[in-house]
Amino acid sequence: MSSEWRKALRTAALAALAVVWVGCAPENYPQSIFDPVTDFGTRINSLFASIFWWTMLVLVVVECALIYILIRYRDRPGAEPRKIYGNNLAEIAWTLGPAIIVVFILVPTVRTIFYTYEPPEGDPLVVEAIGHQWWWEFRYPELGVTTANQMHLPVDRPVEVRLSSADVIHNFWVPQLGGKRYNYPKPAMAPGEAEGKNYNVLYFTVDTPGEYLGQCAEFCGTSHAIMRMKVVAQEPEEFDAWVAAMKDTSRGLPAGVPAGPGAVQPVAQTEPASLEAEGYQVFMRAGCAACHAITGTPAMGVLGPNLTGLASRWSIGAGLMANTPENMARWIRNAPGLKPDAKMLTFPNLSDAEMDALVAYLYSLE
Ligand code: CUA
Repeated sequence: MSSEWRKALRTAALAALAVVWVGCAPENYPQSIFDPVTDFGTRINSLFASIFWWTMLVLVVVECALIYILIRYRDRPGAEPRKIYGNNLAEIAWTLGPAIIVVFILVPTVRTIFYTYEPPEGDPLVVEAIGHQWWWEFRYPELGVTTANQMHLPVDRPVEVRLSSADVIHNFWVPQLGGKRYNYPKPAMAPGEAEGKNYNVLYFTVDTPGEYLGQCAEFCGTSHAIMRMKVVAQEPEEFDAWVAAMKDTSRGLPAGVPAGPGAVQPVAQTEPASLEAEGYQVFMRAGCAACHAITGTPAMGVLGPNLTGLASRWSIGAGLMANTPENMARWIRNAPGLKPDAKMLTFPNLSDAEMDALVAYLYSLE
């Protein structure tokens, strides 16, 4: 082998090693299906592994036979190949072999499918995951809590995620949880018609606390790629504390804002008690409450994300950018300029002082 060839071979080997190495770094791939944290994901993963090894067996047997035949029956001077017609043993073998392999793939596959559709035993926590262009709404009907883009779950308790959509078809996919299933718009109901189970469901139990990224997996319009979500799986006590904080009606109104009718139309003439109280007035004056709800305030809009607990979310705009006051101000000024076709209105006319106050109020919502 010439030295040029050796050098080229060495370079190729190093490049291959680099590719393999990068592929093995899990921190670069937070959305990996190979690191499941639910019973659902573990089942799917072991099914994948078993099918993978069956196909590897087929690959090795076929390739070995191929190499053997290529060498054994290669063209040699004077050698005429013997012609054979029909061989019962060979035909039975190559029919029966694949049939057995198919059975070994089919049975676990069907069992896994049935397992994932089986309602879990015990008392599952119901979460409604509603797709919107382009963000996720998460409602906990039994707990009276609604949030957006960041789903909190307790570990070791079965969960029933009910998937639906407020507009077009979306697809709920958090790879480490294991499932990927469509969010269909709910069909219109005739008056008085009882709502049936007209939505998709995902059942799983998270076994490891942590934060798991996901995203919409069905093309749903301009900003489909910016329809991300995060699942925060917590110990049951932490989850209960989160629920309690979300339901705490004493948190929405800043100090100095009167509850009751006074909160709806705060008196603008009097000097606000704090920057947050001033921001709350901007919030009500600018019409934010038409689309957004905040627990403990008269704001009950349902078109946009519920803002209760906003300060503790990981992102603004469903994974668009980090949740910082600077980004929040940019987002409020011109959301569609940052996220194509976002339905959020623009507020170019708020003064800097008004914006500072508004952002201060929003970040008091922990
Ligand atoms: Cu929603 Cu893509």
